[in-house]
Amino acid sequence: MSSYSRISGTGSTLPSRRVSNVELAADLARRGVETSDEWIVARTGIRFRHFADAGMTSVDLGEQAARRALEAAGLHATDIGLIIVATSTPDMIFPSNAALIQGRLGAAGGAAFDVQAVCAGFVYALAVADQFVRSAMTRHALVIGAEVFSRILDFNDRTTCVLFGDGAGAVVLSASDTPGVLSSALHADGRQASILCTPGRVSGGEIAGSPFLKMDGQAVFKQAVHVLEDVAREALAKADRAPADVDWMVPHQANIRIMTHTAKKLGIPAEKIVVTVDQHGNTSAASIPLALDVAVRSGQVKRGDTLLFEAVGGGLTWGAAVVDF
Ligand code: ACO
Repeated sequence: MSSYSRISGTGSTLPSRRVSNVELAADLARRGVETSDEWIVARTGIRFRHFADAGMTSVDLGEQAARRALEAAGLHATDIGLIIVATSTPDMIFPSNAALIQGRLGAAGGAAFDVQAVCAGFVYALAVADQFVRSAMTRHALVIGAEVFSRILDFNDRTTCVLFGDGAGAVVLSASDTPGVLSSALHADGRQASILCTPGRVSGGEIAGSPFLKMDGQAVFKQAVHVLEDVAREALAKADRAPADVDWMVPHQANIRIMTHTAKKLGIPAEKIVVTVDQHGNTSAASIPLALDVAVRSGQVKRGDTLLFEAVGGGLTWGAAVVDF
């Protein structure tokens, strides 16, 4: 029996509409909302984000990323016994994005479900899929992060609408005699739900509460830099690795300041951080698999490299994983 799961393929996709800070600022100015390229770059490192057109959903994006990951792994959809989608912007209340993507791929028969851990969702989903593969529930699993955060942004709120974008990334996890996913660590603190949330719900045919993302940016920032260092150290210790062993840190792409601050506290040089936040903005659960795929396809991340994933999101939820690629 194989003892490990390893990433056998990666894939990603972005909506074609790419919006610069300058274009977004001009658009917001027409609504009387003031922002600037300088402010966004200085506070976040974001220069561009992609927005899905009205007809495009997170299932569309997730399906495309999944097809690319399957192709990279040299597998067919029928080889997949488990699909987990990390998303906070699913197409429907139910069924899950995972079930909808499974149907489109033609992979019927295996298990399919969504994980809702906001920006930490991909790390959560990877940890769950790793357990399924290790315990021989399936030989191959698709782990997808797919988001259309533009749908829950209030474009009258400059403190949030400049930060997020849409996209999807996916990995195939396959049973292996060699590692693989070395460790994962997951945490949550539901007492902090209110600092980052989209509180609306459907009730009686109407939306009760706000359907827009709300965030206390400074509170999230303070928590993020605190928990990310701790959880990264925890995952590294479980994997019996030191920060110096990390070839590439592939963090959740929320804010360049959080990413570099965490790397600095861990003693990981800034050159070892995979950075896509400048090009994609914060794509929530999609950001890590999207950044990973970009880094793999550009030749930055190579087979045998040790990777550190880490993320924090609404909940609060946070987690990290150490992977030999
Ligand atoms: N353009 C121009 N000015 C702005 C904008 C904007 N888009 N947004 C806020 N400001 C103003 C504020 O109104 C404030 O003005 P004031 O001083 O006159 O009151 C000033 O800029 C400073 O605001 P702060 O909130 O103090 O700015 P800060 O340096 O904290 O940066 C930011 C804000 C970027 C949101 C930061 O707090 C942050 O990155 N927090 C973490 C957020 C995050 O990473 N969230 C995602 C993690 S979880 C997930 O991914 C779902």
